[in-house]
Amino acid sequence: MRNIVDWELGLHGKVDEVNRRLIEIIHTDQADLYEMSRYTVDAGGKRFRPLLTILAYEVSCDLPYTNILDLAAGYELIHTASLIHDDIIDNSSTRRGKPTLNNIYGLNHAIVVGDYLFAKAYEMGSRYGPVVSKIMADASSRLAEGQTLEAVNLGNMHLTEETYLEIISNKTAHFFEACAMGATTAAGAGETISSSLRDFAFNLGMAFQVTDDILDIVGDSSKLGKPVFVDIKHNAITLPIIHTLRKADPAVTKEILDALKRGDDSSIDSRFKELMVTTGAIDYSFQVAKSYSQKALKALRLAQRSPDLDLLMELAMIVVERIEELS
Ligand code: IPE
Ligand code: IPE
Ligand code: MG
Ligand code: MG
Repeated sequence: MRNIVDWELGLHGKVDEVNRRLIEIIHTDQADLYEMSRYTVDAGGKRFRPLLTILAYEVSCDLPYTNILDLAAGYELIHTASLIHDDIIDNSSTRRGKPTLNNIYGLNHAIVVGDYLFAKAYEMGSRYGPVVSKIMADASSRLAEGQTLEAVNLGNMHLTEETYLEIISNKTAHFFEACAMGATTAAGAGETISSSLRDFAFNLGMAFQVTDDILDIVGDSSKLGKPVFVDIKHNAITLPIIHTLRKADPAVTKEILDALKRGDDSSIDSRFKELMVTTGAIDYSFQVAKSYSQKALKALRLAQRSPDLDLLMELAMIVVERIEELS
């Protein structure tokens, strides 16, 4: 099993091309806007969405991947913009190992830089015609729906697993799905491969977000490049918390969550993690993430084997197995 670093190492040429293209796209003569946009883009990130777009394109046709670079970069820009706004909402201090844009340049600038990156992204999508444009715009709308459904359920101790899954499918999985759909549409791929890749990407996104929610509890913030316990402090009810509320005394769970938020008890982090382990919440959530990863792999069974397809398959495993590396 390869880890994220090794997986990306094999794709470094493509990552470099995506980064080069991102810098070109965000260029503006407004020097401050350019500086702030560069700050975010240069901070890096795993670039999973553009790599997914590129690999799905390569699996779908024999044309050079450079044809799909604008779209791949466009998806990364939507993702980056959504993170800038998400960090404002979550009041997060670090992202991609650096202080958040909000932290450095302030709220007003962070909002506008996010808006600017969204606009640039749609311009990129429009280069691939109206169908791809609509796929990209719909994914952004879904993201907003997911973020809103999450926001209106903050602190809802009765949040069901079903609603949680609806939140993460909208805010994350449909976005991954859109990367694949944009790529297969641009490639002119047939129905079988298009629906396989679409199904793959959706389940990959689900596995990815469930894992991210586990990492918010068990992750090492220096390895993640972002703080942990953000969901809890922000009252977001994620899968491990839902499971704990089912298994443990709700009053005890609430007391621990409240103490975590207040941050005035030095032993609370370990008490909380212990609760997560003893109720089986981490294990349960890991199994859920794994089952999405397996669904993703299964979706590719009809596709013809190729080095690009193998890379996608590895990604489906890595997004879940990264828990070990990052905790
Ligand atoms: C973070 O996404 C937001 C989630 C959907 C969990 P990534 O973990 O892909 O963020 P970067 O791009 O690598 O920073
Ligand atoms: C993902 O959710 C945010 C978006 C899809 C915009 P999270 O809030 O879990 O992402 P992180 O943990 O801040 O990266
Ligand atoms: Mg967040
Ligand atoms: Mg998170």
